[in-house]
Amino acid sequence: MRAASAAPRRQGAAARWSPRQAGRAKPLLFLLGLFPAARWIWLGLNDGLTANPPEFLIRSSGVWALAALCLTLAVSPLRRLLDQPALLRWRRMLGLFAFFYTALHVWAWAYWERGWSAASMWADIMQRPFVLIGVAAVVPMAALALTSTRGWMVRLGRGWQALHRLVYPIAALSVWHFWLIRAGKNNFAEVYVYGAIVAALLLWRAVPALRRRRSAQAGGGG
Ligand code: HEM
Repeated sequence: MRAASAAPRRQGAAARWSPRQAGRAKPLLFLLGLFPAARWIWLGLNDGLTANPPEFLIRSSGVWALAALCLTLAVSPLRRLLDQPALLRWRRMLGLFAFFYTALHVWAWAYWERGWSAASMWADIMQRPFVLIGVAAVVPMAALALTSTRGWMVRLGRGWQALHRLVYPIAALSVWHFWLIRAGKNNFAEVYVYGAIVAALLLWRAVPALRRRRSAQAGGGG
């Protein structure tokens, strides 16, 4: 009985990717990450950016930024579920793509909607709550992108992990931003999909942490 149950475990262990193998897939991941930008260029060259290209690009970059953010958050659960610890090597690149598409999204808003006018940007932030929520997500996101290097990891020590846990509230703010936009149009279908994904990823992170804290408290009390 024992030998039979040990066999699949050994097979699973043999199928694990080494960090080097996961690293070798990174150029492919990089090319995949460029797909949305390549698609916009292709659509631009073929009159495919709809009748209102700025609006299309602002919306499309927002959706791709949120999708990349969800993928970044999914790395930890996936590496556990698939028993592939080496998947962690993809997380930084995915996170940087999320920031890249967010930066393009904000740039497109600043350029096409606000004409690079600081006064007009400020007025928009004050007048439209969804813009304010977007800014609240972007500011910490920039800090995470900036501190994503190995040098910052070493410099910040344990604080690095605490800082990078901000990715969860950032994702929640991003879904809120999306929800506020779609509330005006009464069109929530995609918001529910992203909301459910972010909620599941948040719960995956929060529930074991709460359990650990509770059992530590119970241990301390006894
Ligand atoms: C400075 C921060 C931000 C600004 C100024 C901003 C601005 C905008 C604007 C003007 C729109 C178009 C609204 C419309 O078409 O009615 C939009 C849509 C959107 N934004 Fe943002 N945004 C910001 C941050 C973010 C962030 C951090 C994310 C996610 C990572 C995000 C994701 C989206 C999504 C998913 C949409 C909706 C696209 C759609 O309706 O199909 N935005 N944003």
